[in-house]
Amino acid sequence: MSAALIELSNIQKTYGSGEAQVTALNGVSIEVAAGELVAIMGSSGSGKSTLLAIAGGLEKPDSGTVRVNQRELFSIAEKEMARLRRQTIGYVFQDFNLIPSLTVIENVALPLELDGVAKSQARRSALEALELMGIALVGKRFADEISGGQRQRVAIARSIVGSRKVILADEPTGALDSRTGESVIRALKERIDAGAAGILVTHDAKNAAWADRILLIKDGVIVDEARTKRDLNELVKNV
Ligand SMILES: Nc1ncnc2c1ncn2[C@@H]1O[C@H](COP(=O)(O)OP(=O)(O)OP(=O)(O)O)[C@@H](O)[C@H]1O
Ligand SMILES: [Mg+2]
Repeated sequence: MSAALIELSNIQKTYGSGEAQVTALNGVSIEVAAGELVAIMGSSGSGKSTLLAIAGGLEKPDSGTVRVNQRELFSIAEKEMARLRRQTIGYVFQDFNLIPSLTVIENVALPLELDGVAKSQARRSALEALELMGIALVGKRFADEISGGQRQRVAIARSIVGSRKVILADEPTGALDSRTGESVIRALKERIDAGAAGILVTHDAKNAAWADRILLIKDGVIVDEARTKRDLNELVKNV
């Protein structure tokens, strides 16, 4: 078995203090290997986005370790962490996080440009990713001049542009109709098959069925795992 690209070990995360304290994650461990897609399902507030944010180095856990591409995230210098995130991790935010003052193409090209890729090459790669998402036609519009579903696809294009090894997608089809959603997941899966490791947070069992493993999270604890369609059908009953 190949070494894991994502390794979360015994992650604990609490928000707030006193009476307002919420335990978002309570001892979560996950490993995802190259070429593997893991789906996370669970009801609203169960800790899915928190888990993804920690895996992506956007939130620091209270305890536990996070390794991405064999590097321990919160023990390296901030600048190095930023570079690791930029070069290795494609992140699809639940609320897209596009930059409204940039065009669609500029948004998608940005991570490559920040990484020193020449502007023309970055734009070419961006356009390819947008074509894959079926939205190359809106490339020249500003990110706040397109529909919600188009925005979501731009966010996904930005996560798969270049050849980053880790893709973390938070509910990436929430704003899409089922056919568009399926084509997006299919494109994501192609990147995984090409050797990336992915975590897909989803409420949709049809999306989850594309994953190699499906984990069910409940109140910050992984309580179930499915590897087959039949297991998935059982798991979904408990979401
Ligand atoms: N910044 C924050 N400050 C305080 N509490 C937070 C914060 N972020 C998340 N929480 C709490 O942590 C718990 C887990 O939240 P999280 O966003 O991970 O849930 P989720 O599973 O992604 O939910 P959803 O399906 O609604 O997106 C919830 O109780 C939430 O209210
Ligand atoms: Mg969430």
